[in-house]
Amino acid sequence: MLKPNFKEAKKRNKEDIKIIRDKYVIPKEVENIGLNKKYYIKTYGCQMNEHDSEVIKAILEDMKYTRTDDYLDADIIILNTCAIRENAHNKTFGMLGRIKHLKQTKKDLLVGLAGCMSQEESVVDEIINKYKWMDFVFGTHNIYDLPNILKKHIEENKLEVEVLSNEGNVIEGLPSKRDSKYKAWVNIMYGCDKFCTYCIVPYTRGKQRSRMPEDIIDEVKDLIKKGYKEVTLLGQNVNAYGKDFRNRDYKMEDLLRDVAKTGIERVRFVTSHPWDFTDNMIDVIAKYDNICNYIHLPVQSGSSRILKLMGRRYTKESYLELYNKIRNKIKGCSITTDIIVGFPGETKEDFEETLDLVKTCKFDSAFTFIYSKRKGTPAALMEDNISKEEKEVRLHKLNDEVNKYAKIANDKLVGKILPVLLESVSEKDKNMLAGYTDTMKLVNVKADKKYLGKIVNVKILEAKTWSLDGEIDE
Ligand code: SAH
Ligand code: SF4
Ligand code: F3S
Repeated sequence: MLKPNFKEAKKRNKEDIKIIRDKYVIPKEVENIGLNKKYYIKTYGCQMNEHDSEVIKAILEDMKYTRTDDYLDADIIILNTCAIRENAHNKTFGMLGRIKHLKQTKKDLLVGLAGCMSQEESVVDEIINKYKWMDFVFGTHNIYDLPNILKKHIEENKLEVEVLSNEGNVIEGLPSKRDSKYKAWVNIMYGCDKFCTYCIVPYTRGKQRSRMPEDIIDEVKDLIKKGYKEVTLLGQNVNAYGKDFRNRDYKMEDLLRDVAKTGIERVRFVTSHPWDFTDNMIDVIAKYDNICNYIHLPVQSGSSRILKLMGRRYTKESYLELYNKIRNKIKGCSITTDIIVGFPGETKEDFEETLDLVKTCKFDSAFTFIYSKRKGTPAALMEDNISKEEKEVRLHKLNDEVNKYAKIANDKLVGKILPVLLESVSEKDKNMLAGYTDTMKLVNVKADKKYLGKIVNVKILEAKTWSLDGEIDE
């Protein structure tokens, strides 16, 4: 048994990052374990987790499992969890309650926990004490080890907990069963060293580790060969890409340029921390047409006092300066953001400053959250002196403001003809396809399925707050 340890997870040693290419091996004992059996994976959280689930799916399929979208039908269930806010926790434990019932009637069912909650000491203790019926727990650093963990579980027939905490490796050569045929997630870095005071990610994902540019470019070239139209470069903090290389001067602007030069039709990247956003990056984005004019630039708060308490290392003024630079240099760029309300000590005046910032920036859209205390982070020790009701009032006011500008931004697009990558059939109406513009606007279009996977010109007919309606313009 290897339990997570936050003290270890917090350490940032000076050791070189090792690139490991031979970790993933399926032991003979489990190579056919999934024959005639089905797997179900539930994914919570961010794009990083979405992509990790694609890796888990491929590993399970390598062991001959086939996929089901109904957990009642599954022989193995894995919950790939998120720890970012309390409600992410609650959803997972709610699901575990339902699975417990199923396990009572289906004795051979295997149930495992993966992802960021597996990296939390308190969660793993709770699983060990109160969820003994579960079969295995693994973390974000050792997904490659799933076959071995299953093998051990079968041999020992007890709850198998294998979670690494202090990780300085980049694992290459893992398979991936991608959800889309047209757009792909590509990890460019793992972990985060920013330690914003409210955030659990530096503990659950570990030290910042960038992948080698060659490995990333090879992956993108391979995706082009397979017919992919779009890649999204993934990291918690992509602008800091390459800062951890010891003997090499290669940064995010270099990577963006080299990925753009592969000729892939669309390049996106998330998430950008305002702190590391350089002028060179802005120039590269403006220069290459296939780098999408869309930037997610989380601000978190409009009050410099609160930003300081959050450890964000920029002020309202420096954020606005960067924001305006992007708007001026990248024509037609859409910018979205993340905002937290109710951070410990946030006064009515601080909150008003956040509203003011939203009015000034007129974001294309924003993800808004009520602050959630995360055990083990510095902010958890700050006095949380705002009532739940007040936090809800603030969230409500903020959402009204955010939605107003989202609608205004969408209204401006009515009548325009925009290229859209049509990627899915609408669940509500089988005659409708959905896709995104370069600027990440969701567009619904009445169109034949032959357009799926194609970038087509769409005339925008109507704007809603969260989406646009359009028709194909031929
Ligand atoms: N790496 C990204 C953010 C990743 S987490 C960045 O720094 O920009 C996604 C969002 O969740 C954050 O931007 C933040 O707005 C929100 N978030 C993170 N921790 C939170 C917490 N403890 N309570 C509420 N929201 C939180
Ligand atoms: Fe969390 Fe801050 Fe890192 Fe983003 S940059 S993942 S908010 S610690
Ligand atoms: Fe959640 Fe972990 Fe992503 S905490 S937001 S799944 S990095």
